[in-house]
Amino acid sequence: MDRSGIFAGDDPFAIARSWLAEAEPLEPNDANAIALATVDGTGLPNVRMVLLKDIEPAGFVFYTNYTSRKGREIEVSGKAAFVLHWKSLRRQIRVRGLTSREEGPQADEYYASRSLKSRLGAWASRQSQPLSSRTALMAEVAKVTASKGTNPPRPAFWGGVRITPLEIEFWADGAFRLHDRFRWERSTPEEGWKIERLNP
Ligand SMILES: Cc1cc2nc3c(=O)[nH]c(=O)nc-3n(C[C@H](O)[C@H](O)[C@H](O)COP(=O)(O)O)c2cc1C
Repeated sequence: MDRSGIFAGDDPFAIARSWLAEAEPLEPNDANAIALATVDGTGLPNVRMVLLKDIEPAGFVFYTNYTSRKGREIEVSGKAAFVLHWKSLRRQIRVRGLTSREEGPQADEYYASRSLKSRLGAWASRQSQPLSSRTALMAEVAKVTASKGTNPPRPAFWGGVRITPLEIEFWADGAFRLHDRFRWERSTPEEGWKIERLNP
């Protein structure tokens, strides 16, 4: 297959890491922001931005509140998809896959790396639930600040979600809308990848 340059190599995680590293100095903010898609029980899709925190050897990890809307939808379906898009590079990466929680030492370590205010914020926010006022949220922050101290543990309802992909597609802008697209595909995480070039 005529695959070289920015698409070179057979490890899609390595390509994703290298594209993100290229985008980081070019994007004004959050080069690691992904639009994360889930579906509710009726099949109605839902999408929102989250930050991609790890590109591992075999998975993508972001952090959130497990009781949030996305958290609950992922719990039920066990699936999610996301897209990374960099306007600076005119490239996108699309991922579809199976989800699992990362709630061990890796999640503890990431939680501990955050600012104290963010750590307390995770305790204070009942993410996605109705909130009567900003004042009520600030009162909750004051309450957890008093009760959790300066070294709060990671809340059990907050942690990582790992997406183990079944599909990863790399897209790069080409002249006259003749873009380059390559898809890595497999039907289970145990299988090897089938790699194909796609029509733009
Ligand atoms: C750039 C950006 C990054 C965000 N990163 C996160 C994140 O890493 N985790 C998270 O839970 N929410 C993040 N949010 C907020 C989510 O978009 C969303 O509002 C929140 O998670 C609730 O979504 P839900 O009700 O569908 O669960 C981010 C929002 C933006 C705009």
